[in-house]
Amino acid sequence: MSNTAVLGGTNSKELAKKLAKRINADYGALITDKFPDGETYLKLPFSVEGKKVIIVEGMHPNPNEILIETIFAARTAKELGATEVVLVAPYLAYLRQDKRFHPLECWSNRIISAILHFADRIIAIDPHIQRITDLQSIFKIPAKQITANALIAEYIQKNIKEPVILGPDEESYQWAEKIAERIHVEVTVLRKKRYTSRHVTIKLKTDINLKGRNVVIVDDIISSGHTMIEVIKQAKKMKAKTITCLAVHGIFAENALVKLKKAGATSIITTNTVLNKTSKIDVSSIIADELKG
Ligand code: R5P
Repeated sequence: MSNTAVLGGTNSKELAKKLAKRINADYGALITDKFPDGETYLKLPFSVEGKKVIIVEGMHPNPNEILIETIFAARTAKELGATEVVLVAPYLAYLRQDKRFHPLECWSNRIISAILHFADRIIAIDPHIQRITDLQSIFKIPAKQITANALIAEYIQKNIKEPVILGPDEESYQWAEKIAERIHVEVTVLRKKRYTSRHVTIKLKTDINLKGRNVVIVDDIISSGHTMIEVIKQAKKMKAKTITCLAVHGIFAENALVKLKKAGATSIITTNTVLNKTSKIDVSSIIADELKG
């Protein structure tokens, strides 16, 4: 028995198992059920007394349910004698509502960070950071953001010949430009205007020749897919040879995967922060490195 336990939440059992193996920790899945009235039942898989506990909880799908599960698990582990509780959120939900866009709206990211305080610290992978400087600025417990950029760069280098990287909007420089820098390939970041959660327009800012090129569109999240679809349209217009859509978090809401294929994506690749058939990049190594470091 190890003095560290990794507990896998409903959406992250596979990833948690991989992580436990990498750091030589005990692994168990959180035991959850529903009471007849719809409330969440939760039990830890084994005693955590005297152990460091790492809870891995990706918050998609069913973010609301998962938030309750996360809070219950963290608090229960503390009550039952864990020496430290670390929450690993491969995908941390509700970060995109990062201001009151319209009067009277809920400012979600601040509230979510406030209710996730039962753990001693939190680690999130490529959290959506736009109007805040870093994750710590909205958390009261120590909060660390880590990035899958190195893994994505490696994937591109191994699998795509002479790529050119496109970032769909100004914020995507954190992924598109940084990844391009690592592997020394051409990159351009486009200009996006969002009208609603399902309507965006995208413009190329620079003269770039995409004819016959292997285009890789890199972003943090694919949700409805509309952002990617608009870039695909531009790349097709400019006669790109192949178009790969690559994102850290594959949410694929409202049948986005099918829509992306229909729009002309040659391939769609994501990490396993949200488990999908597109999850070709495993992030367990960067979580293990962060925990060891
Ligand atoms: C927004 O700023 C994000 O970086 C993504 O571009 C966005 O969340 C993607 O959403 P969707 O797939 O719904 O267009």
